[in-house]
Amino acid sequence: MEHIIINGGNELHGSVKLQGSKNSILPILAASAVTGKVSVLHNCPRLSDVDAAINILCHIGCKVRRHGHTVIVDSSGADSFDIPDDMMREMRSSIIFLGALLARFGKARVTAPGGCEIGLRPIDLHLSALRSMGAVISEQGGQLDCRCPDGLTGRHITLNFPSVGATENVMLAAISAKGETVITNAAREPEIADLADYLNKCGVTVSGAGQSVIRIISDGKFCSAEHRIIPDRIVASTFMAAVACAGGSICVAGVEKEHLAPVIPVFEAAGCNFDFSGDEMTAEFYGRPRRVRRLRTMPYPGFPTDSQALFMAVAAKANGTSVVNEKIFENRFRHVPELVKMGADIRVEDCCVAVVEGVRNLHGAKVTACDLRGGSALAVAAMGAQGQTVIENIYHIDRGCEAFEDVFTSLGADIRRVQSLQE
Ligand code: EPZ
Repeated sequence: MEHIIINGGNELHGSVKLQGSKNSILPILAASAVTGKVSVLHNCPRLSDVDAAINILCHIGCKVRRHGHTVIVDSSGADSFDIPDDMMREMRSSIIFLGALLARFGKARVTAPGGCEIGLRPIDLHLSALRSMGAVISEQGGQLDCRCPDGLTGRHITLNFPSVGATENVMLAAISAKGETVITNAAREPEIADLADYLNKCGVTVSGAGQSVIRIISDGKFCSAEHRIIPDRIVASTFMAAVACAGGSICVAGVEKEHLAPVIPVFEAAGCNFDFSGDEMTAEFYGRPRRVRRLRTMPYPGFPTDSQALFMAVAAKANGTSVVNEKIFENRFRHVPELVKMGADIRVEDCCVAVVEGVRNLHGAKVTACDLRGGSALAVAAMGAQGQTVIENIYHIDRGCEAFEDVFTSLGADIRRVQSLQE
């Protein structure tokens, strides 16, 4: 089992290029299965979740080639609407292929994803929206058998929560629906707008993405498209947290400042200094972080739940008490006991409020990554800790962060990946 070993205490200096967004490439790869044309997708990160999505595309008959950070999908030969259980389980968000398969074939057989490390991850909003568009979905032992006997029909759909995945699944189903689909209370994350940009290049007409009401209409005729995936705003916040924990001054190229608007003020309140020039962000931090009195995670444009653990790694060393309120997922504090092993003073009240009493220094420990963002948080905390930290289960980090140890080695961190602890 691979581990990451980090010897804390090195300041971070240097420049890195920000990877493309995991949460943007995944729905766009699913959408590329619908058009029956060629999609050339640039700035695709090398991640295990992307590999899993590509495996699904190949399984349903698409031809996929990869050249560096460009992925080329030819979905003209797609001929299967059945995704086997093992493939669905490889990637948490594989449910996004449901809307795509219904749009392409009018039917789909997939596995309900089930819960994961951070919560139950229900898909009731996805299923009720797709049913209202004409999908007949039977759920049997975790298997979803879906048919559209009369095809898909555009509807006015109101989501009772701005679910990212449900918004994306409806957008994908809508591109083959008869008539206009309107999504009210749609998710506003930048990844939704990126999916809309890609779909518009494919010949679909999507308007309002990034706001709460999205309209989709399509004549069912698609064209080949070339698209550049937006940068990963959550990995950008990982770099912010790393410099806040370890100290130093780094330059991150390829950022989209607007996407970072929800996190910049929080890290500035903790003591980070940022400078933006074009698509370059310089993040600088020296000394001990300041506490942030209260942080609550919210749908975009609120503070992202995916950056919560990263912020907590900083708060753990802050001068004072910070209260973190996780409002999106019910089990997203699994990094807390691991941070406590490193000397953090954090107590969780009910399931979703953590009281973080900052300590002057964290110390190295043997810790376990329990999910992608929690694992990244342990790593950035370790970079600013005294002594050696060993992190196991780092496959979680590989799902969403490309070449994690190489990137941080280039910034001066003392970090390496080992196949086993005997090395
Ligand atoms: C997406 O997950 C992201 N994943 C998550 O990132 C991110 O944390 C989340 O959006 C919120 O921003 C991808 O884009 C691949 P949701 P998703 O549907 O779509 C409830 C990461 O680390 N809900 O917006 O699954 C749900 O339980 C990952 O990169 C329902 O109740 O998120 C949760 O409480 C983790 N019923 C809330 O909505 C539903 O049918 C937000 O879920 C769907 C969701």
